[in-house]
Amino acid sequence: MTDLTRREAIGAAAAVALFVPGNALAASPGLDAIGKPRGIRFGTCLGGKGLRDPRYRALVAAQCGLIVPENELKWQAVRPDARSFDFRAADALIAWATSVGLGVRGHTLLWQKTERYPKWLVEHDFGPNPRAEAERLLTGHVSTVAGRYAGVLPSFDVVNEAVDEKTGGLRETVLTAPLGAENVIDLAFRTARAAAPHMQLVYNDYMSWEPGNELHRSGVLKLLEALKKRGTPVDALGIQSHIGAPGQGGGVPFGARDEKAWRHFLDAVTGMGLKLLVTEMDVNDKLLPTDIATRDRAVADYARAFLDSLLVYPQLDTVLFWGISDKYSWLQGLTPRPDGLAKRCCPYGMNYEPRPLRTAVAAALAAAQAR
Ligand code: G3I
Repeated sequence: MTDLTRREAIGAAAAVALFVPGNALAASPGLDAIGKPRGIRFGTCLGGKGLRDPRYRALVAAQCGLIVPENELKWQAVRPDARSFDFRAADALIAWATSVGLGVRGHTLLWQKTERYPKWLVEHDFGPNPRAEAERLLTGHVSTVAGRYAGVLPSFDVVNEAVDEKTGGLRETVLTAPLGAENVIDLAFRTARAAAPHMQLVYNDYMSWEPGNELHRSGVLKLLEALKKRGTPVDALGIQSHIGAPGQGGGVPFGARDEKAWRHFLDAVTGMGLKLLVTEMDVNDKLLPTDIATRDRAVADYARAFLDSLLVYPQLDTVLFWGISDKYSWLQGLTPRPDGLAKRCCPYGMNYEPRPLRTAVAAALAAAQAR
């Protein structure tokens, strides 16, 4: 990741002001400009590659009102070892975003999956009192990061993907062994609240409306109910919204969904007093035929239906894509399409051309009631 200094980040921002590709403006007003009057902020994740690409930066600045660092606030990026912190990459992203008037939200204080823990943490010697050591490591990380960005980042994914979609149960890690799975989550939220009292604290996960998500949805609901019952300071549910090929399309056709069950889930979540965010949306078109017009139409229609299912909730005030353009989408590195073609999964294409998906997002935002 770049070591952009603050000066370079601001210089990059200046470049943005000079260079805005015509086609990105061809679809003006920007997506955030459509949502903002209705109380809905639109944005995207942004990582090192996008930050270093002036055309990508220009598109983000023209279409978004906020960004979320794709990887730069995760343990792997911030914690080289058990003793130190490295915020350079995150601060470069935040500096650039701030210099062009974009908000920033945080992701994530704890990705509750062993394979997403840094190697040193997985191999850490928790000593004679593992419970105290686990608590020290977790609270030290959360309070340092949340405290650093208190008043800077208004919202943060505190815990990410703690529910195993295969069982609906809570994942076990080297931190849950001494502390207990629910206690780890509770402690992360309480520590974040103490460090950043005015920050929106979010539980983020990828349960969706597609078949095969039943256990995932019920597990998330069970977790949220348990946390609310014990008074854990959770403010919102982040719905990642990686839709289109559930479980990489294991037998589930593109576009399949259970709208009734989804509505029941969302009613239960908002019934607990929680807000909703779409935190990482993209549409995996892996299962769609080769024809471009067919793919783009199906992606756009499916995304519109999904967004409409959420935007009817006044508790939803944020829609973030996980990439504004296909160019650096994580989906390009995932299992490829049978025809080997690049995925068409974001509102803008590889050459920053607006896609039918972009039109569908604009229409969904425009149709939403003010909140
Ligand atoms: O920075 C290192 C670089 O130094 C090294 O040379 C290179 C090769 O090993 O790896 C680089 O780190 C990679 C990082 O992205 C930054 O590019 C990691 O290997 C790679 O695993 C990481 O992938 C990210 C993934 O989360 C895991 O953190 C994806 O970009 C990112 O899009 C993806 O995003 C997640 C959300 O955080 C949570 N929800 C699901 C979503 C998609 O998986």
